[in-house]
Amino acid sequence: MDLKDNEIKKKFNKLDEILAIYGKDHEQLIRVLQKAQDVFGYLPEEVQAYISHKMGIPVSAVNGVVTFYSLFSTEPKGKYNVNVCLGTACYVQGAQKIYEGFKEQLGIKDGDTTEDMLFTVRSSRCIGACGLAPVLTVNEDVHGKLSTKDVAKLISRYKKNETAGEDNGKDLPGVGDYQEPTPTGP
Ligand code: FES
Repeated sequence: MDLKDNEIKKKFNKLDEILAIYGKDHEQLIRVLQKAQDVFGYLPEEVQAYISHKMGIPVSAVNGVVTFYSLFSTEPKGKYNVNVCLGTACYVQGAQKIYEGFKEQLGIKDGDTTEDMLFTVRSSRCIGACGLAPVLTVNEDVHGKLSTKDVAKLISRYKKNETAGEDNGKDLPGVGDYQEPTPTGP
């Protein structure tokens, strides 16, 4: 077994632990999928099929939930998921320019991931933090009251993490412990 196989096996072991907690409680499917995505970084077909089998839920139903919610991804994502809110409050405060700035400076298109697998950039509707508009999240960090000048600062801050192994850009504006609200059923 090579390193990659070992890595995958460990992830499925972790998934087994999660599934053992939630059993066949169908109402917990979204929570299980969230946790599975935390482990794998995304939800490929084989992970969906595994969850379907273990929870006794048709794979079409699992896939339906995965494709319904924008927080789930079926493609590998970068280490840092930049999610720029383009809801009304953020849009009128210039969020579109910030979004374009990220894509331009990273050389990627909507929803793409950089070749080094560091950044995935996408947009979302209102994330419920309008008071911080324009706002974006990078994984669980929230950055608000941004300007286009902050784009380069944020990119370099997260890139620096790779060498320093610390500091999640907490000196940038509007950082908090925001958590995306847990969705409640399709
Ligand atoms: S519109 Fe961006 S957080 Fe509400």
